[in-house]
Amino acid sequence: MRPITLLPLTMAALALTQPAHADQQSVRERASFNADWRFMKGDPSGGADAALDDAKWRKLDLPHDFGIEGPFKQEYQGETGKLPWWGVAWYRKKFTLPAGDAGRRIHLDIDGAMSHATVWVNGKRVGGWPYGYTSFRVDLTEHLKPGAENTLAVRLDNPPDSSRWYPGGGIYRNVWLVKTAPLHVAHNGTFVTTPIVKADAATVDVQVTLDNKGAATAAQVSTALYALDAAGRRTGEALARSEASALTKVGAGRQILLAQSLELKQPRFWSPRTPQRYVAVTTVSEQGRVVDEVETPFGVRTVSFDAARGFFLNGEHVAIQGVCMHHDLGALGAALNVRALERQLEILKEMGVNAIRTTHNPPAPEMLDLADRMGFLIVEEAFDAWRLGKTPNDYGLLYDEWHEKDLRAMVKRDRNHPSVIMWSIGNEIREQGEPEGWKMAAHLADIVRSEDRTRLTTAGFNHVVSGYNGFQTAVDVVGFNYKPWEYPKFHQSAPQIPVIGSETASTVSSRGEYFFPVSDDKSKGQANFQVSSYDLTAPPWASAPELEFKGLDDNPFVAGEFVWTGFDYLGEPTPYNADTTNVLNFTDPAARERAARELKELSKLNIPSRSSYFGIVDLAGFKKDRFYLYQARWRPELPMAHLLPHWNWPERVGEVTPVHLYTSGDEAELFLNGQSLGRKKRGPRDYRLRWDDVVYKPGTLRAVTYKQGKPWAEDTVQTTGKAAKLSLTADRDALLADGKDLSFVTVAITDKEGRTVPRTSNPVRFSVSGPAELVATDNGDATSHVSFQSPERAAFNGLALAIVRTKSGKAGPIVVTATSEGLGSAKVTLNSKP
Ligand code: GAL
Repeated sequence: MRPITLLPLTMAALALTQPAHADQQSVRERASFNADWRFMKGDPSGGADAALDDAKWRKLDLPHDFGIEGPFKQEYQGETGKLPWWGVAWYRKKFTLPAGDAGRRIHLDIDGAMSHATVWVNGKRVGGWPYGYTSFRVDLTEHLKPGAENTLAVRLDNPPDSSRWYPGGGIYRNVWLVKTAPLHVAHNGTFVTTPIVKADAATVDVQVTLDNKGAATAAQVSTALYALDAAGRRTGEALARSEASALTKVGAGRQILLAQSLELKQPRFWSPRTPQRYVAVTTVSEQGRVVDEVETPFGVRTVSFDAARGFFLNGEHVAIQGVCMHHDLGALGAALNVRALERQLEILKEMGVNAIRTTHNPPAPEMLDLADRMGFLIVEEAFDAWRLGKTPNDYGLLYDEWHEKDLRAMVKRDRNHPSVIMWSIGNEIREQGEPEGWKMAAHLADIVRSEDRTRLTTAGFNHVVSGYNGFQTAVDVVGFNYKPWEYPKFHQSAPQIPVIGSETASTVSSRGEYFFPVSDDKSKGQANFQVSSYDLTAPPWASAPELEFKGLDDNPFVAGEFVWTGFDYLGEPTPYNADTTNVLNFTDPAARERAARELKELSKLNIPSRSSYFGIVDLAGFKKDRFYLYQARWRPELPMAHLLPHWNWPERVGEVTPVHLYTSGDEAELFLNGQSLGRKKRGPRDYRLRWDDVVYKPGTLRAVTYKQGKPWAEDTVQTTGKAAKLSLTADRDALLADGKDLSFVTVAITDKEGRTVPRTSNPVRFSVSGPAELVATDNGDATSHVSFQSPERAAFNGLALAIVRTKSGKAGPIVVTATSEGLGSAKVTLNSKP
């Protein structure tokens, strides 16, 4: 089989800093512009006018998501989280531009505003962007008054019925003010690739686009390469320096594209295990004076897809062990917080995840910085819909005018990240079923290629085999959403096309809930708007995790999988989603009709559910049982064993209560109160061990596992005593006093011996003293309508979470206290440092 090989490449985020040595006034400055905005929900007249009196508007810092503030309302759609994220909102900010900035170019960079943003400065409309997931730049220069106060106004208009999940509302990502000289590197204007990669040297090509907004007629551009340490700091001397490119005839008002080539000796390759990065520092000078300097972090790695053997990184086969992730951060909503994102990635890494598909839209830029640094492979996705939308007011309305701009913006922003391995042009696009749909796919794939020829294109298909119509050859790698049993059929018909499981499993469960009798029928296991954690339940188009494992093991040409989803997310509470149009998942008209009927029935119920059950990890970041099923598969070298369910079933004494075990071992013996219930071996396609006939009596369940005959790992589950006290643990206790850093504090309801008591829902009250604030609480219960900002939160199956944020510039000890009636209180001390 002929492998499709990508040009080896080097990539990374554009990070812009101000070098100390250069002329202060003329070089680039990039500063956070998040502080001190005024906010108003609604549409006041004159919202854009500089003279408008906004003193009474709410004062806040960005990023901000007004939707997450609630309240939850039963009558709102569960599909989008039962939260009020739609409508018109205004953000305004007054600021003084130093007189010394006269003559500089001033740009506003908005990483994401949900949605339909329009921007005015001093009453003049200067730009905007409708798609809430695209980062965009607005040039403010012409309408700013140096040495005086200026007013910025941003109006958002977030249409209802425009999403299949919780999108959030507001300026929910970072905002930056970027000041440059008239002659400067254009927005996202560097592109670093490594067309030749060998063990002893890599060729590093740097493409630079200059924007000349002034009268310069000549310029010099040079680039130097440095290694970055794990924290992203330059280390040591330059490893290579380009010749200076001397540009003459730099026309005023023009863009100039130039290319430089450097050699990097003995490159250390980027990979998830060794996320080594470098940085290209590009310096622009005018008449001997430095006028701009841009840092482009990148990595050296090669990626290729082989239609017969899967995915290769730096020449080595790597199985994609991926998850799909929506962008919300649980109780924090869509408002970006880097630590919250980092925590998600840490938890996923512990499970063995090496790849993420950013469903179904470009993520915050910080997500890709983290992926580069922590070592994740990324499939970055552009759209959930093209012209044929999925909800009445979604991207379908924007497609014709905006698809090209959005796609170019995504690729240009992110094509330097070593983590990004593929561009996905869409998810379950309805045009798949249209006779001419492939033409649109080809058009979009070509746009992507025109910005980046070093990566392949893909899409998530829900009708790969039944709808084989040319759409599949418009992209380079075919993504299967579900139906792993169709892998062989597709491969036989198109053996030259690489395949990946772009979306898999969609198993549903609620942490700590178990329903009886346990059935392998995937439609069973539902009660009380929760789903059983035996991990056998899934919607009709989906399956338990193991069906996909078998599909992958039987068909090694498939590059791996992206499980739906890593974390629970707000919205789409299938199987209790009365709003969804996921009937689109059925090609068979009879099945579609049946699904539509079921939905209708569901919509008559008073369903409280407002967040998903798909996550391997719940909304609060607590691991569900499934975490260990994936860990067992993805980290086979890690000795681990995990038993389920819990063993507190006073009402089940004498009743059959099946016990399941997830382990990276290959054999296990189960004991109940010291008595063996049998030793079992995993067969070649067994991914869990089951003792289906265990008769419940209280006490101790213990699994002793073996690998290749040798003792491997153990797990024990005990019947606990009754709830007696609280126990508090913080994920991090050394924090930064930057007003952004977070500690995630877990409270467990325990018995006298300190064992977490399952099935407890005691109310807990959190309080914080010292230089920090309680920003949110959660417990992972998808049916709760308690405000995420509430300091009071009942435990859900023994656990609750408090999210504590430091205060900017205020260091010192922080004490988090949790109190619950009858259980006393518990404290944990954190420390915030300057
Ligand atoms: C897929 C879809 C996802 C999500 C998932 C739930 O078909 O691409 O966005 O809806 O179903 O199983």
